[in-house]
Parts: sequence; C-alpha cells; structure tokens
Amino acid sequence: MKREVTLTVNDRSYTRQVEPRLLLSDFLRHELALTGTHVGCEHGICGACTVLLDGEPIRSCLIFAVQADGHGVTTVEGLSDDPGNLHPLQQAFWEAHGLQCGFCTPGILMTLLPFLQEHPDPSEDEIRQALSGNLCRCTGYQFIVEAARRAAEKLHAPQGGAA
Ligand code: FES
Ligand code: FES
Repeated sequence: MKREVTLTVNDRSYTRQVEPRLLLSDFLRHELALTGTHVGCEHGICGACTVLLDGEPIRSCLIFAVQADGHGVTTVEGLSDDPGNLHPLQQAFWEAHGLQCGFCTPGILMTLLPFLQEHPDPSEDEIRQALSGNLCRCTGYQFIVEAARRAAEKLHAPQGGAA
C-alpha cells in the first residue's frame, strides 16, 4: 500500500504517494526527475548517490523515501544550474578539470560541500580521507583533490562566495 511522503528538496516542497520500498535515490530520479543524483552500485559502496539529508551527507540508495518524510534533502541540482554563475564547488571542478565522465561528480560535490564548510583549509590527506567513500573510475583523484582545494579557497574567500 502506498504512503504519502512530503519532502523538501532543494528548498521546494514535494508530496507524493510512494511504495514503502521506494529508495530515496529512485524517488529523486523517478518521482521528481532530479536525475543529477546518480546510482552506481545501489549497495552503499560507490558514493555516486550521495545527497544531503538535513545537511548531512547520506547515501540515498541506502534509505527509503518514507524514511526521509518530513526532512530536507539537498541534491546536486541545489547548487547552481546557471553556467554563468556556478556554485564555487562547481566552478572549482570546472577550473581544475576535476571530472572526466562526470558520473561520480554529483556524489563527490555533495560529499565535499559539508566537509569544506567545516574545513576551510583542508590538507590533501584530509580531502582524500573525506572522499574515501566516493569511487571514481576515470581520474587518478589528483585533479579532484586540486578542485577541492580550489573550492575551499573560493568558499572561504574573504569577500564571500559561498552559496
Ligand atoms: S549507488 Fe549508492 S553508494 Fe553506490
Ligand atoms: S569522472 Fe568518471 S567516474 Fe569519476
């Protein structure tokens, strides 16, 4: 039997009738057409499906949509969809060539966002540790780490810039 859920996603409220077994990742992609959240392993391993639940990074393939009822979700679409005014994280990845195919990128961005908010000047080791649960098949992580460093600078620049 379906259940009604109401979620705030990227500051917009959605109410839907869903099967209790519907994963949050599938809810975002199929019910809300927010396909920026990618699904790789569906087992909590790859990190591609990472979103923020009430500000904390979680793997959306590991919880059901009904478990997120009444909560706030931020997906990669919550950053910026304006190519002329990218979020500092997106801008940094663009500048540092931090992606190739881009499949892992949404999960990496959503992992980095709260991490960089709490770590204004992270070391390479800290960045690599923060990203240890995000698997990228394309890059050697060097550009990703460089992008994360740039993003930290942009997010914490004196004149602001954090979105
Ligand atoms: S799809 Fe969720 S961790 Fe891989
Ligand atoms: S850029 Fe292709 S999987 Fe990471």
